[in-house]
Amino acid sequence: MRIVVTRRIPEAAVETLRQAGEVWMSDADRALEPGELAEAVDGAAAIVSMIHDRIDGSVADAAGPGLCVVANVAVGYDNVDVAALAERGVLVTNTPGVLTDATADLAFGLLLALTRRIAEGDRLLRARRPWSFHLGFMLGSGLRGKTLGIIGLGQIGQAMAWRAKAFGMQIVYSGRSRSAAEAELGARFVAQEELLTTADVVSLHCPLTPETRHLIDSAALSAMKPSAVLVNTTRGPVVDEGALADALTRGEIAGAALDVFEREPEVEPRLLELDTVVLTPHLGSATVETRTAMAQLAARNVAAVLGGEVPPNPVRQ
Ligand code: GLV
Ligand code: GLV
Repeated sequence: MRIVVTRRIPEAAVETLRQAGEVWMSDADRALEPGELAEAVDGAAAIVSMIHDRIDGSVADAAGPGLCVVANVAVGYDNVDVAALAERGVLVTNTPGVLTDATADLAFGLLLALTRRIAEGDRLLRARRPWSFHLGFMLGSGLRGKTLGIIGLGQIGQAMAWRAKAFGMQIVYSGRSRSAAEAELGARFVAQEELLTTADVVSLHCPLTPETRHLIDSAALSAMKPSAVLVNTTRGPVVDEGALADALTRGEIAGAALDVFEREPEVEPRLLELDTVVLTPHLGSATVETRTAMAQLAARNVAAVLGGEVPPNPVRQ
């Protein structure tokens, strides 16, 4: 059985896949173009896909009727048309759990980098600009006693909340439903409008769906406090990036820490000019341990489906 891997993955995971079928792995140092992807998947029983691959009905058709499973190496699967695949009898799996801490660590790290001006300070020194310690020099703001507003209290949102608790923050959250974790976290469920108007930090942890696309638009940004900051480690299109650049330029919010972008790998050029913005290139899950675990989990999902078993992480349509 042919297993197509759209981009290089750790060797341990390739080994797992080799035991389940015949592996073809792209060795290109970039995402496959749609035409290349269609060609590569021809005859595949399984596709191991990355977030930059658009996997829709036409890709499934290019693979042919033998396609059983698409294992996306990510927790988010907005790049996969799950309904179109289900129609063709193809299962989709993702990699939840193994990237929770890594992503929350990065989100909290970005928050600290922003509020304590870490990246800006690094830039100042590298620019070899003169400086000296004084009591008013490069002041940031503290987190203790501030309110963190979490949009989407799933696994990663909860991990973010635990970190925030350790830093003495109050936690409010909004989302589609209440979470059983709220009592343990001391988190208060509020309407999104209240979250936006009261939080000092708004951190996004909801998946990208038609409902959450541009959830943070100009109206949401102007509802936020002028002293508040936005953290986005989920998916770029949850934020209207143009509206965010406008809001930051006008001082409607105080800053933003972004790991994801609306048109990756592009970044809205106006954001690059602002010292009130901290940017990383989609590094949420980028640790050796986590990326290895993600690839292994995707491989185990493929092996289960090809072996006629129920995979550990099927996604719901
Ligand atoms: C990465 O962005 C993921 O969804 O796992
Ligand atoms: C600051 O550098 C201090 O010693 O308080």
